[in-house]
Amino acid sequence: MVKVAVMGHGVVGSGVVELLMKNSESITKKAGQEIEVKYILDLKEFDVPYKDKFTKDFNVILNDPEISIVAEVMGGLSPAFDFVKSLLEHGKSVVTSNKELVAAKGATLLKIAKDHNVNFFFEASVGGGIPIIRPMHLCLAANEITEVAGILNGTSNFILTKMIHDQMPFDEALKLAQQLGYAERDPSADVEGHDACRKICILASLAFGRHVYPNTVYTEGIDKLTLEDVEYADAWGGVIKLIGRAKKLDDGKLVVTVYPAFIPHHSQLANIDDVFNGVLIRGDATGDVVFYGKGAGKFPTASAVVADVIDIAKKHSTVKSLSWEDTTENIVVDYKTSP
Ligand code: HSE
Repeated sequence: MVKVAVMGHGVVGSGVVELLMKNSESITKKAGQEIEVKYILDLKEFDVPYKDKFTKDFNVILNDPEISIVAEVMGGLSPAFDFVKSLLEHGKSVVTSNKELVAAKGATLLKIAKDHNVNFFFEASVGGGIPIIRPMHLCLAANEITEVAGILNGTSNFILTKMIHDQMPFDEALKLAQQLGYAERDPSADVEGHDACRKICILASLAFGRHVYPNTVYTEGIDKLTLEDVEYADAWGGVIKLIGRAKKLDDGKLVVTVYPAFIPHHSQLANIDDVFNGVLIRGDATGDVVFYGKGAGKFPTASAVVADVIDIAKKHSTVKSLSWEDTTENIVVDYKTSP
């Protein structure tokens, strides 16, 4: 059995704990061992069935030799950076959904993880539930990537969708996104483009093998867009989408930007609506590959955090290869329904 700690019991943290409990049977099979949440770090108190697991003291987690994996889902740089750094230095693997942390300190933390022979994984930091970090890093490993572009902020995309299709004013749509648990604690990070900037920095760092810092990225959000802008785009045969883009120029230099862009209706990115994100990766062998799915929200994001935990637990178990049962039982033939 592997014992883990979850730091932060907000929207994503509670999703991580609930998902680990709900799907424990299949997760145990995939991880090759049971995964038990031993601690949840949060300063607040919650009336939940697992309230005995809460602690307010980070040192309890840091100094418990039974804890080998920690999920950091607190968000923000402080104290998250100090906590994650100490955990890695104490030989504990860390998984995180914290894009601010990875965009600002990813290179530093990856080096510390390497030096201490532990893992620092961040699948949930970009695209919520969409598998993007691992597919880019592993499945597209044979490619030279020349460009990454996409809709990377669910809240902005949700607001734009409401403005475009329902003529809903900006403020009302933002309130709705906050109620649905999509927005950051400080939603200015969403609407001013900083969240999308952090995500394109992470993807660009991964694609091009060197850390791209947010302060080197031209960033403009959707906060100044009006319903008139949206109508104007429609009259020209397209929509406005907040696009993060990283491109390698012919001379090898990188250009990384975030701004509301005019997207013609025929583009693959034009019809990605609501909280969905879409990321296009251009590889020299594959051509364009597009990833699409829910980019924010409790369970989509928790799904990616838990997947990282499972991956690390698997490395510590005897399960080294994929397997499935060889049986024809319970197969229904001749059943027709629409997907
Ligand atoms: N606030 C973020 C978004 C959450 O709206 O995309 C997921 O990173």
